[in-house]
Amino acid sequence: MSEVLFEITKENLETGLRGYPCGYCTTSFVDPVKGVTYIGRPVNEIVDWGPEKIIYLLYKGKEGNEAELKSFKEDLIKRSSCNPEMLKHIRSLPRKGHPMKLLCAAMLIAGMYEGKNDYTEDCLNLIAKMPEIVATVINYHAGWSESHTSKPELGYMENFSQMLNIPNRDLPKLIEAMKLFNVLHYDHGGGNLSTFVGKATASGLEDMYGSIVSALAALAGPRHGKANQDCLEFVQNVLSVLGPDTTSEAVEKLLHAKLSNNELVFGFGHAVLRVEDPRATVFYDYAMKNYPDFPLVKIANILRNSGTKVLKENPKISDPYPNVDAISGTVLAAAGFPYPEYFTILFGLSRVVGIAFQIVYERCEAREGKGTPIVRPKYLYKPRNELKSSS
Ligand code: MLT
Repeated sequence: MSEVLFEITKENLETGLRGYPCGYCTTSFVDPVKGVTYIGRPVNEIVDWGPEKIIYLLYKGKEGNEAELKSFKEDLIKRSSCNPEMLKHIRSLPRKGHPMKLLCAAMLIAGMYEGKNDYTEDCLNLIAKMPEIVATVINYHAGWSESHTSKPELGYMENFSQMLNIPNRDLPKLIEAMKLFNVLHYDHGGGNLSTFVGKATASGLEDMYGSIVSALAALAGPRHGKANQDCLEFVQNVLSVLGPDTTSEAVEKLLHAKLSNNELVFGFGHAVLRVEDPRATVFYDYAMKNYPDFPLVKIANILRNSGTKVLKENPKISDPYPNVDAISGTVLAAAGFPYPEYFTILFGLSRVVGIAFQIVYERCEAREGKGTPIVRPKYLYKPRNELKSSS
């Protein structure tokens, strides 16, 4: 008899498939206590590797030696160039609405120009081209004029950061924070919404770019990727109400007032984690070491403990600890990128790496190369009036 992994009862219906095993993820795993591991390595232990070495780890499932990394970096550089006409079309899209909408539209256009209809090729090409596509979207949306010329030989996030036309930037500081943000968001298991949606779209044999468009649309929602924007705005609000030199007591009082007013406290809790998100711990350490006097850092640091203390008073809250969004935006702001509107885009730039690798696995390698079948779960039929009376 095959091993029983999960039993479904009525209580599991309409719970967002929470905890249902769906398949295998060959890149990363999220343990409720240890947090995310990339190919078995806790992410906090490898952050210093930098982007290319970690992307290689996720791609190959093993650490690259010097020669392998050199040739991988050269390959990414070769693949990075973007069709100028494609970039021109991106720069003629409407700038209305949230910039994630622009990124989704840009990704569709990128697929029209760059798509090869080959999951593995498109995966590596897309990862290589993402920095220029995303820099184009941000510069254009923000009205910062055209991107600085792409110089992929500088390095993955070095090039991305230098392409951004941010006013008054301090490039070395920006690069360091962008690298940290980038590597900490590559992958988060197989079941996070954007990854799941991207793989589901690809299961219908839509190509890589189209599948990534759907994944980015899933990422754009406030319960998923946009939470990092909302979090920074929350920290900014606490700062503007209480000032930078406030106390834990004052913060706790404000949080109680917000909760009794049915307002949300942002940056706490996670679908899987039951401790402080280890990615958040990396960011807190970085912020306290590099920017301890930056007003938002001071507030985020008080919220780290006060938020948990206040949320713990409610026994129904299963995870009262800070997640990565509680502090990631504060670090970006301290490093000279105080633009919350673009934080979800930066999340997308990073998460595309994990999603694309997982799509390649499901399409080209799973089930001895046959690939997983089209996603097609079952919904039970029940007329609305019966559901109303049973609730
Ligand atoms: C995350 O990075 O925390 C997520 O994508 C959310 C999740 O894992 O469900």
